[in-house]
Amino acid sequence: MDPAIRLADISKTFFRDNDRKNGDEPEGIPVLKSVTLDIARGEFVSLQGTSGSGKSTLLHIIGLLDRPTSGAYHLLGDDTAALDDDHLSDLRNKNLGFVFQSFYLIPYATALENVVLPGLYSRRPQAELTARARTLLEQVGLADRMHFKPARLSGGQQQRVAMARAMLNNPDIILADEPTGQLDSTTSGEIIKLFRQVHESGTTIVLVTHDEHVAAQAQRIVRIHDGRVVEDKPTGA
Ligand SMILES: Nc1ncnc2c1ncn2[C@@H]1O[C@H](COP(=O)(O)OP(=O)(O)OP(=O)(O)O)[C@@H](O)[C@H]1O
Ligand SMILES: [Mg+2]
Repeated sequence: MDPAIRLADISKTFFRDNDRKNGDEPEGIPVLKSVTLDIARGEFVSLQGTSGSGKSTLLHIIGLLDRPTSGAYHLLGDDTAALDDDHLSDLRNKNLGFVFQSFYLIPYATALENVVLPGLYSRRPQAELTARARTLLEQVGLADRMHFKPARLSGGQQQRVAMARAMLNNPDIILADEPTGQLDSTTSGEIIKLFRQVHESGTTIVLVTHDEHVAAQAQRIVRIHDGRVVEDKPTGA
């Protein structure tokens, strides 16, 4: 079977507007340099690396939120370079779930409404979406908080709402960027337990983390340094 994610010789260079000024070949800042990486379906992988090493940039490319400057990216067997924007957003909505710190919950919507949100782009009936969202919120231990707005939830509870939201469309792959970054170690342990459960149900997970304990929960750790993969090893977990 095709891997979930196949990155071949992926590079990403960011250009500033004035790099292009006088018709010179723009230089830009190379942030990813020839990244080649396969992630199998059902695998649980941690991405580690120092600040600025390119982890979020890589996760954005994997999540179809940005395109590489060069190289080939196949997602679930599809060559993403050959797909138009509609097809890409379709893949993003149906096949990917995001738990990014920058993807805040909507403050004026309840936990339940936040979880239902990614379903509104599909044609699934409202009642079915709400039922699924309730089940997910129960699974993440928030049965008694469904009608709370984010401001009345703790950081860990908000992160669990974000997990439930990421799972609404039953994605093949969950991409998470520092989902435990602002949590104490107990709460962070609960979130990681959830990731393990999601993984055990067959979902592929790519998790960016600075935390060694969190990373060790994955089956495999890929270390990025200065835009390159410098280490790729199984954890034995
Ligand atoms: N849109 C952008 N334009 C220009 N440079 C960018 C852009 N986004 C990221 N960069 C640069 O790319 C490099 C990698 O950034 P990235 O966000 O991928 O790092 P990171 O590994 O996620 O770091 P952190 O652990 O701090 O989140 C940084 O030097 C950053 O300044
Ligand atoms: Mg980052």
